[in-house]
Amino acid sequence: MNDYIKTARAFAIFWYIGILIDMEKYEHDRTMGVELEKTGGDWQNPNIFEMYEQGRRLVREATAEAVASIFRHNIDTDSNGSILELGSGIGELSKLVSPEYKERLVGLEQTESFSQLQKINDPTSRAVVGKIESLPIASDSTDAVVSFSVFDTLTNLETAFQEVRRVLKPGGRFVHILDLGPNIHVIMDQLPKGFIPFPDVEGSHMSGWQLVRNGDYQKLREKLPPEVVPIADIYAKDPAFAIQFILERAQNVGVELAKSIKAIRDVEIETRPPIKESFAENMRRALESSGMMLVSDGDVWAEKIVQRNAGHDKYPGSNYFENNVGKLSGGFRSELVGELGHNQVKTKSILHVFVAEKPETKRNGEMKNESEENGK
Ligand SMILES: C[S@@+](CC[C@H](N)C(=O)[O-])C[C@H]1O[C@@H](n2cnc3c(N)ncnc32)[C@H](O)[C@@H]1O
Repeated sequence: MNDYIKTARAFAIFWYIGILIDMEKYEHDRTMGVELEKTGGDWQNPNIFEMYEQGRRLVREATAEAVASIFRHNIDTDSNGSILELGSGIGELSKLVSPEYKERLVGLEQTESFSQLQKINDPTSRAVVGKIESLPIASDSTDAVVSFSVFDTLTNLETAFQEVRRVLKPGGRFVHILDLGPNIHVIMDQLPKGFIPFPDVEGSHMSGWQLVRNGDYQKLREKLPPEVVPIADIYAKDPAFAIQFILERAQNVGVELAKSIKAIRDVEIETRPPIKESFAENMRRALESSGMMLVSDGDVWAEKIVQRNAGHDKYPGSNYFENNVGKLSGGFRSELVGELGHNQVKTKSILHVFVAEKPETKRNGEMKNESEENGK
């Protein structure tokens, strides 16, 4: 082996050891509760919103502009009818919508302390306590149902959509907007059992999954480059932990591992779509079973130049901030300098938006149930 290869390999091994140490620390932080809320859905702890706040305040005005356009396109401005928000948390969506919609918005939230906090933060906002799966609301009574970064955390989407359909007036719309990264654990739980879901890559970022049968892991392991094996072993033991770590701290490790796996041809590997696409797929499947109609499913974005805020000040070298469904990145773009005034930054917010409609006509089963009720 020539000296260059030896040095490169030694460097790669040190780099991987560094990642392993970081993984251990991350595991420790997570079990100490720091990261748990973000991933597992501990919806009792209001500190969870602190974390969201740090990211959201960087692009909030751009998000509000995108939300305004989504509302205008999907929810009638002439009506005074109610707009039900599912999983309202501490009221982020009510901060983003324009006044004509805000007065019609009623939040529903399972955690009482969150809805109390929403009302303390904004006494003009409205919130009730309840569960999405059994809405305390009459059938055919609601003009529109909206939800902001919630359905990716639900484990029973079918029941949720049935409830949405039940409470909507015929022709009423359901709008789900995702500004945070889809909850990885819910999506992993829905992958087929008996496989280890390793990352897949497209270019230099993680784009989906490569499913390796549990029984094939040893065969795969023998073919992997030695420096990748310790990470793959952690992965094989606890994929949910490893993928979260890779997404949040070390995309490049995921990319290296994914490329190595891709190169191994004699292990059968099934590929699955990216996380956002997996979420959208789950939504479409559950929607279909509810009998509602899909109106649109895709990204909506807005760009805005704003005054620097305390969030931006944490990145003194950055004048550009972009949230692409939970992937917040800051950076400096020299071509923006002439465009930006004193203390200004450019922001862009890309949201995933899923819109469905309740049909005007009732389903056979519903008509039958009603005639049975009437016949009683
Ligand atoms: C990721 S947070 C988003 C909160 C808020 N929409 C926001 O964007 O800040 C998900 C919220 O949905 C609520 N939630 C989750 N499952 C729920 C359910 N089954 N019924 C009612 N609320 C639920 C949680 O308590 C939490 O407040």
